[in-house]
Amino acid sequence: MADPEKAPLEYRGPQGTSRVLIVDDEPVVCLMLEEALADEFSIAVVTTGEDAVPYLVNLPPQIMVIDKNLPGMSGLDLLKQVKELQPDTEVIVITGYASLGSAIEAMRFSAYDYLMKPFDDIDLVREKIRRAGEKSELASERRLLMEQVLASNQELRDAQARLGRAYLQTLTSMITALEARDACTRGHSDRVASYTEMIGKELRLAGAIQEKLVDGARLHDLGKIGIREEVLNKTSRLTDDEYKHIQTHPNISADIIGQMEAYAHLVPMVKHHHERYDGGGYPSGLVGTIIPFESRIIAVADTFDAMTSERPYRQPRSHADAFREIRDVSGSQLDPDVVSAFLIAQGRLGNIDS
Ligand SMILES: [Fe+2]
Repeated sequence: MADPEKAPLEYRGPQGTSRVLIVDDEPVVCLMLEEALADEFSIAVVTTGEDAVPYLVNLPPQIMVIDKNLPGMSGLDLLKQVKELQPDTEVIVITGYASLGSAIEAMRFSAYDYLMKPFDDIDLVREKIRRAGEKSELASERRLLMEQVLASNQELRDAQARLGRAYLQTLTSMITALEARDACTRGHSDRVASYTEMIGKELRLAGAIQEKLVDGARLHDLGKIGIREEVLNKTSRLTDDEYKHIQTHPNISADIIGQMEAYAHLVPMVKHHHERYDGGGYPSGLVGTIIPFESRIIAVADTFDAMTSERPYRQPRSHADAFREIRDVSGSQLDPDVVSAFLIAQGRLGNIDS
């Protein structure tokens, strides 16, 4: 509640001029400063640091002239509060004792300058206050500009994120359309994404990594868009050339996804989802832990779904068979740690007979 005893907060002077708050308990000094500054600044005078604080909170000045030796809160304590509450306000400290030490102390707490009482040259005082006002104005402008830049950057980042999501949705729709053409592959990418998510949770991956992993899993076979349909749907054995052609799909997936900068981080995991742990995979023949971690997870999910789905040339295998097979290729085709996480997660769901 406002104290009725206290004078209202106000500055007096020509409209639109910089505000100067004078804090000094010596009436002569205050009067002299007021007279010298009255025609080009808006002035308020208080006699204690405690009385200056409401101004800082409600009606901050651009410039303060503070006596170092105030009753109650000291001038330096007030200076510290000013820098905390209004960093753009410039402070000139007045000291009655001509000592270099006290001046240095004031500068250490970010005072703009110091003046010694009594004032020999009032013009010099006025000039210092003018300069302090210019500095404060510049600091405010810089701060405003910085805030505008930060806000624009944020808007740009938001727009990029929206664009990225839209691109991802387009790619996901392409996958759905591609898989829908064939009953055997329908839903493959969604299932691989869900097995991948299950493994990621079992491995206690952080939320952001998990999200990235699931996005990559959903898009891993996108490159099949570039594979000739007769090769994709061939029920008999593939020729060497056809096999080579099909092996280009991870690179095509990576090329499409890499077009969007926001999803460039998915490229390695997608590109290497057909690497084998023993180095016999493609496209790069990477070995063991050199294969991106996420690719090793997708590989387990992909292999399991391929085994348990119908193919033009064979019936789906039972889950029990597929678990056995996955265990058999652990350490050769697949990363043993990832296989183990997958089997533990499946066991937890009651899908594996003990
Ligand atoms: Fe694939």
